[in-house]
Amino acid sequence: RRQESQSLYQLTEKAADYYQRQLRSHPAANAAIAYLRNRGLSGEIARDFGIGLAPPGWDNLLNALGDSAQKADRLEQAGLAIRRGDSDGRTRPDRRHHYDRFRNRIMFPIRDRRGRTIAFGGRVLGDDKPKYLNSPETPIFHKGRELYGLWEARQANRDLKRLIVVEGYMDVVALAQYDIRCAVATLGTACGEDHIQLAFRHTAELVFCFDGDRAGRNAARRALEAALPQMQDGRSLRFLLLPEGEDPDTLVRQLGGERFEQLLEEQARPLEDFLFDLLGEGINLQTMDGRARLSKAAAPLLDRLPDGVYRQLMFQQLAARTGLDRETLQEVISAEQARA
Ligand code: GTP
Ligand code: MN
Ligand code: MN
Ligand code: MN
Ligand code: MN
Repeated sequence: RRQESQSLYQLTEKAADYYQRQLRSHPAANAAIAYLRNRGLSGEIARDFGIGLAPPGWDNLLNALGDSAQKADRLEQAGLAIRRGDSDGRTRPDRRHHYDRFRNRIMFPIRDRRGRTIAFGGRVLGDDKPKYLNSPETPIFHKGRELYGLWEARQANRDLKRLIVVEGYMDVVALAQYDIRCAVATLGTACGEDHIQLAFRHTAELVFCFDGDRAGRNAARRALEAALPQMQDGRSLRFLLLPEGEDPDTLVRQLGGERFEQLLEEQARPLEDFLFDLLGEGINLQTMDGRARLSKAAAPLLDRLPDGVYRQLMFQQLAARTGLDRETLQEVISAEQARA
């Protein structure tokens, strides 16, 4: 079992080398390099993140690494090759059993906490769909438990004062390009409890910085709920919601690194403000009905907080806003739990 994983790590590592070599020497590399430059990335940052190129064609990687039936099967287990006919039954223009999963894409290697490449994200160079393709779950890759950029952030910082959690690969890399080397991204999945637990293992301060669109706002709300049970005293969580239509990548390129960090300092809202603003949206606390609605929405959420001073302070906040004492709020929690 362990040996099996060993050889998968070796294979993904070889694939990462292969993709990086193609970005230097394949005839299609010029277009890929132009694309990356156009997005503001230097060769140095591309190297730090191991960015590569999966060239156009159905069997480049298979030819390079999978020149036997057994090796092709290993590539399939590593998520890098697909068995022909598995997904849509169409015949592929090669005579073998497999074809390359990643074709004509910029390749972002996903590294685990020890720096081993375990999977890839691949972006089309233009506007084709799907925009990003990720490795599937494999014995060495569980996407709900990895954060893109965490290893790179740990390499760049002796102590991680904080981590900035963003949505996309390009956000992580663009921030690094502006010397903000502490961003991590979930891999196209919602930021859940496992992600937050992993992040808090490496720093006590998280800043969520999601896109200024509906998806980003929903992601922030989900992240908030996932984070609540992990808010032990001494940890800090803040939210920076970006202007509509922007993401960290577009914004840092407009503002530059210093002003982006300044924005983070000045505008990221602590969990307590964010939570009450979010739940208070459209609620008029001057009315009794409004205060009842806020207590019903907020009390069960606050009840997810672990014991500690922070929990007590949050309940005090809610009490102040609603005029309900702690005992009554506890009754609200019980009533809401009974309803659910
Ligand atoms: P760029 O256009 O390269 O700047 O991408 P983005 O990261 O800004 O994309 P977006 O905000 O739309 O998506 C955020 C993240 O969601 C991406 O980095 C991917 O991890 C994931 N994602 C986006 N589109 C797709 C898709 O079509 N398929 C999959 N599997 N994931 C996607
Ligand atoms: Mn085969
Ligand atoms: Mn988005
Ligand atoms: Mn985005
Ligand atoms: Mn983007």
